[in-house]
Amino acid sequence: MKVLIVYYSMYGHIHRMAQAVAEGVKEVAGAEVALRRVPETLSEEVLQKMGALEAQKSMANIPVCKVEELATADAVIFGTPTRFGNMCGQMKQFLDATGQLWAKGALVGKVGSVFASSATQHGGQESTILSFHITLLHQGFVVVGLPYTFQGQTRIDEITGGSPYGASTIAGGQGERLPTENELAAARYQGKHVTTIASKLARG
Ligand SMILES: Cc1cc2nc3c(=O)[nH]c(=O)nc-3n(C[C@H](O)[C@H](O)[C@H](O)COP(=O)(O)O)c2cc1C
Repeated sequence: MKVLIVYYSMYGHIHRMAQAVAEGVKEVAGAEVALRRVPETLSEEVLQKMGALEAQKSMANIPVCKVEELATADAVIFGTPTRFGNMCGQMKQFLDATGQLWAKGALVGKVGSVFASSATQHGGQESTILSFHITLLHQGFVVVGLPYTFQGQTRIDEITGGSPYGASTIAGGQGERLPTENELAAARYQGKHVTTIASKLARG
């Protein structure tokens, strides 16, 4: 059982969530997990202006994903920060390079799932995940979310990300808020849940 976690993170919030998703994957016996970043599309100059260079350096040890790797996985869990309520351009560019895989039906029947991050509480986490699902469905993925059996998503005693569509975190306007324990628990749950479904599918 091979699970790929493919993500883009500018300031590190999705990176932290991706690590928690990986912990959840590893809870399933026999599961192998690999973390991958999608290629950067912005210049170093632009990244510097956006205050992202330090965070980028701290993620430099994560290998950059090649599109062909998607075909080798049983499940792919994608992570993206929200950009105007949608996935980020880096992720879109990566997915737009998967036409060869689409032509061969190479991703049909794999499990696909998405987690997200936004600056504000209602800044588009759900629309980001749901609009991402459209691409996954075109590629034939079996789309999996974060069911309410993850009880942390019903909490109202604290501000929290997470919805039936997938785990998410709220980064704050200056990126000052880090993923909370509840949000990380959601990410772990999603990792485990996706892997469990993928292994059931693999067993036929
Ligand atoms: C061009 C741009 C558009 C953004 N659009 C939104 C948005 O629509 N809603 C929101 O809440 N945050 C928005 N953000 C904030 C990012 O989602 C936030 O920086 C990100 O979730 C942090 O995750 P990261 O540290 O993994 O990059 C935007 C940021 C940029 C640079």
